[in-house]
Amino acid sequence: MFDDVVDFVRGIYGKEGLIPLHEPLFIGNEKKYLNECIDSTFVSSIGEFVDKFEVKIAEYTGSKYAVATTNGTAALHISLLLSDVGEDDEVITQPLTFIATCNSISYCGANPIFVDVDRETMGLSPDSLNYFLSENAVIKNNQCFNKTTGKIIKACVPMHTFGHSCRISEIKEICDKYKIILIEDAAESLGSFYNGKHTGTFGSLGVLSFNGNKIITGGGGGCIITDNEALAKKAKHLTTTAKVPHKWEYTHDMIGYNYRMPNLNAALLTSQLENLKSFLSSKRNIALAYKEFFKDKPYIFIEEPVNSQSNYWLNAIIFKDKKERDLFLHETNSKEVMTRPMWTLMNKLSMFQGSQCGELSNAEWLEERVANIPSSMLIT
Ligand SMILES: Cc1ncc(COP(=O)(O)O)c(C=O)c1O
Repeated sequence: MFDDVVDFVRGIYGKEGLIPLHEPLFIGNEKKYLNECIDSTFVSSIGEFVDKFEVKIAEYTGSKYAVATTNGTAALHISLLLSDVGEDDEVITQPLTFIATCNSISYCGANPIFVDVDRETMGLSPDSLNYFLSENAVIKNNQCFNKTTGKIIKACVPMHTFGHSCRISEIKEICDKYKIILIEDAAESLGSFYNGKHTGTFGSLGVLSFNGNKIITGGGGGCIITDNEALAKKAKHLTTTAKVPHKWEYTHDMIGYNYRMPNLNAALLTSQLENLKSFLSSKRNIALAYKEFFKDKPYIFIEEPVNSQSNYWLNAIIFKDKKERDLFLHETNSKEVMTRPMWTLMNKLSMFQGSQCGELSNAEWLEERVANIPSSMLIT
């Protein structure tokens, strides 16, 4: 039934055998920089590539500061801690996200609250957020209290799904009004902009991931971006075991984390970042080809939302119902064309079943109908 899609994808990638969902591309100075890194012997969490990469990422995203971490999950964890999220606090996020968003909330001893997404962006809906807060929130002593649980809603973590920006300016306005700290999970959206501003730079802190499946990768890696110098300094301190700087003494002034990105990963990433522009244009070409192909088909190809420029990290289509989507997943995967459903909604996972939820009909609708299709960069 889906032979035309399978043939089209094979045509794009021009190969037999397995077509992965997203594979990394190493066409630049990766080996050169890795060799330099090895020759320097600085392969761990101190080294020139880490510092250089932070400067380049800050420059690219237009944020004042960047702090490189071992992965995006660590960056989320630290960002929440820096926002004073602790035991029994509450954090609003979307149910349609990768587990890391919620895991990091749990690492702080806090509880997620799930609010619906927009169908168009697949990210947190400002309308649902506003409605949830108007029904449940009360401001006391400059803090946002949840009338139902009596707990403090400290932060809000929207996510830019598959690299498509959510309506982040509106979300920011609502968070400001309710005294809630905004942290953006921009793990999937390096190279995506909303009204010309890079995703991850709207909140007080933004988080990027450089996992092997992301648009650029260091094998692993993450980053915190911020315009706040004090937060950036604290982020660096917390991610480097809270060691007090000294030429030889080991003194630590708080419980810190070993979350600093190793130089080896940063060497890879420095090269990957040099190629981001061509990766982005390849992604856009692939998305355009899919858009053209799907325009006469009975599925909706997900395009970049209004006012945004997407990195098209993972292309996705929407089917009329779950039955058709599942048949698509079954047929394409059996023909070695890798396709995937969205994540199981977080509120359905055993760990989060007791969490407070708003009305989640858009997330439920998307969860049943969306499939990702192969989206690796193609540069010959
Ligand atoms: C939305 C989202 N948040 C967080 C992460 C966590 O990043 P990492 O895998 O680098 O820990 C990922 C990806 O892996 C992600 O897709």
